[in-house]
Amino acid sequence: MIKIGALVSGGGTNLQAIIDACESGYIDGKVVSVVSSKDGVYALERAKKHSIEGCVINKKMYGDDTDDVLIKHFQDREVDLIVLAGYMTILSEKFVNAFKNRIMNIHPALIPSFCGDGFYGLHVHEAALKKGVKISGATVHFVSPITDGGPIILQKAVEVRDDDTPETLQKRIMEEAEWKIFPEAIKLFAENKLRVENDIVRRSDK
Ligand code: GRF
Repeated sequence: MIKIGALVSGGGTNLQAIIDACESGYIDGKVVSVVSSKDGVYALERAKKHSIEGCVINKKMYGDDTDDVLIKHFQDREVDLIVLAGYMTILSEKFVNAFKNRIMNIHPALIPSFCGDGFYGLHVHEAALKKGVKISGATVHFVSPITDGGPIILQKAVEVRDDDTPETLQKRIMEEAEWKIFPEAIKLFAENKLRVENDIVRRSDK
């Protein structure tokens, strides 16, 4: 069973999907710690409801030492994997290198579209609608020092409708893609079925 650490900043619906997948046995793992960059977010409530340790670690509290504090936090808990479940802060190269190919992020678009600096939250969906794409979706990837640039693990396409607003598109992408492929990617990791070769993810079950 793998130990999972989670970094969050908001509502935590992806975190919930991961917790549920662990509790149902779909993922052979356990979320052992939820760290938020913000106080009072609902993701911390979700952790509490499932008796998972939750805390806040951010720049306001630790300044330039923040990433060192985060590294120690997760090393002390011996986590195998860190999931960025709606984490709105960019991690330093030092943090990423401390957990190389052991940090996963979910991005609400089909990378390399609508990703990188500035593409977060509703901005991603606004950009997709402005471009008039007919398909968007979600991507789970390992985290590298380049924002949204790490090796891609899973992607799922979602239809864009003519009457979509950024909010309706965000909701459909969460329901039809994010909450499915994030737990699926973690399941594959827990089963040791993911290999990264030259920045490309290969699956040993395919
Ligand atoms: C999701 O859309 C995710 O793709 C993005 O941030 C949002 C987080 O939502 N990285 P939640 O906190 O998991 O509900």
